[in-house]
Amino acid sequence: MLQYTTMRTSHTAFLVLIILPYLGTGGAQSKFTSIISFGDSYTDTGNLVRWADPVLPPHPINNLPNGETFFGHPTGRASNGRIVLDFIADALGLPFVPPYLADRKANFSGGVDFAVVGAPALNLTYLQGQNMTVNPPINSSLDDQLVWFEKLKPSLCKGQGANCFGSTLFVMGALGTNDHFSFLSSNRTVEQARAYVPTIVDSISRGVERLIQHGAKYIVVADMVPFGCLPIVLTLFPSKDKADYDRYGCLKLAKAPQYQNSLLRQRIKVLQNKYPSTTIISAEYYRPIIAFLHKPGHFGFNSSTTLLTCCGAGGPPYNFDSSIFCGLPDVTACARPSEALQWDGVHLTEAAYRLIADGWLHGPYADPPLLHVAH
Ligand SMILES: *[C@@H]1O[C@H](CO)[C@@H](O)[C@H](O)[C@H]1NC(C)=O
Ligand SMILES: *[C@@H]1O[C@H](CO)[C@@H](O)[C@H](O)[C@H]1NC(C)=O
Ligand SMILES: *[C@@H]1O[C@H](CO)[C@@H](O)[C@H](O)[C@H]1NC(C)=O
Ligand SMILES: *[C@@H]1O[C@H](CO)[C@@H](O)[C@H](O)[C@H]1NC(C)=O
Ligand SMILES: *[C@@H]1O[C@H](CO)[C@@H](O)[C@H](O)[C@H]1NC(C)=O
Ligand SMILES: *[C@@H]1O[C@H](CO)[C@@H](O)[C@H](O)[C@H]1NC(C)=O
Repeated sequence: MLQYTTMRTSHTAFLVLIILPYLGTGGAQSKFTSIISFGDSYTDTGNLVRWADPVLPPHPINNLPNGETFFGHPTGRASNGRIVLDFIADALGLPFVPPYLADRKANFSGGVDFAVVGAPALNLTYLQGQNMTVNPPINSSLDDQLVWFEKLKPSLCKGQGANCFGSTLFVMGALGTNDHFSFLSSNRTVEQARAYVPTIVDSISRGVERLIQHGAKYIVVADMVPFGCLPIVLTLFPSKDKADYDRYGCLKLAKAPQYQNSLLRQRIKVLQNKYPSTTIISAEYYRPIIAFLHKPGHFGFNSSTTLLTCCGAGGPPYNFDSSIFCGLPDVTACARPSEALQWDGVHLTEAAYRLIADGWLHGPYADPPLLHVAH
């Protein structure tokens, strides 16, 4: 934590110079005064790396070239630069959402991020009870993150009265990829993995209701990425049967991601009807990523590298080797990360996250688009 404070101070001047031109693109007039977020590595702004030291082994995402773009140093984000949450915060005129574990006594009035790299939607007790391998075996699931939020709530709401979260944008997700990863790593078939989808959606849905009970008025619920398009999944769970791959070269995985996203969307509709005084925004990772794979050039991506890990090793077809992960010594990034979709084989590049965030802010990848809600 001390290390983080020092780091932050020494980079303050640097950051201010870069961030200032970005303000003003967003909404100084936005109705949101804070962001509170939950999820996995797609949303973690630095929790796992602080957890890792000293409880878990050091995580490679705490090393360059992670963070090389924009920040110039690793931040605990699993990307070369900013993630979707950063672009959302920026567009709403808010600071980047600070990780909860950076400094538990920090002033979180502008927001707090509870997301953790590796966090499943389902809790450790449940997954281990199903004989699933969970790695790392820590209590970082959505249920745990909600408990941390509940602990922090009195300090967040101090002197604020009943409408404490009236101008807070809650962001829930992405969630679910770590659950699916756990199922497949535990030698379950894709059909067995698919059978857990309703339980995952129940967990996310219960989380949303819990936030509403705490007074949330605006909640973004993000869907799951096309899990079978990630180089890690393509490398670790290959199939000999060509019919198991779709036209983009992704593993179909019994359409479990599509199934989960469709159940989640249905659940969001039900919740929206049940709680009309809360706006629930359905946001997508799945469709924009498929759009990038469909017409990479249209989005500025190199069409010959869409399934190739930018920061990886091992060469084509996926340039992924889990023992030579991005951030470990001698693993270098590709020459032009701004033209790559896949960052480390599990996560996307800043270029991809920026485009996804645009789709959430302006549509079509959020319903309703965030900027329509914000103004
Ligand atoms: C936290 O920061 C906000 C905005 O910068 C400020 O208004 C508030 O007084 C601060 N709270 C504490 C307890 O320092
Ligand atoms: C987990 O494994 C134990 C020991 O093999 C077995 O008894 C139990 O039924 C399994 N539980 C589930 C949910 O599969
Ligand atoms: C996780 O939480 C459960 C339930 O509270 C507890 O029994 C278990 O020991 C915890 N595991 C770890 C690794 O912290
Ligand atoms: C763990 O997950 C199971 C299944 O989703 C749920 O029934 C249980 O309440 C959860 N436990 C905690 C402590 O949240
Ligand atoms: C899965 O199967 C492989 C190969 O049969 C075996 O090496 C591995 O230990 C199994 N993993 C689990 C979690 O059962
Ligand atoms: C796209 O990537 C391939 C493989 O790395 C490279 O050979 C090619 O020059 C790149 N194309 C462009 C237009 O940069």
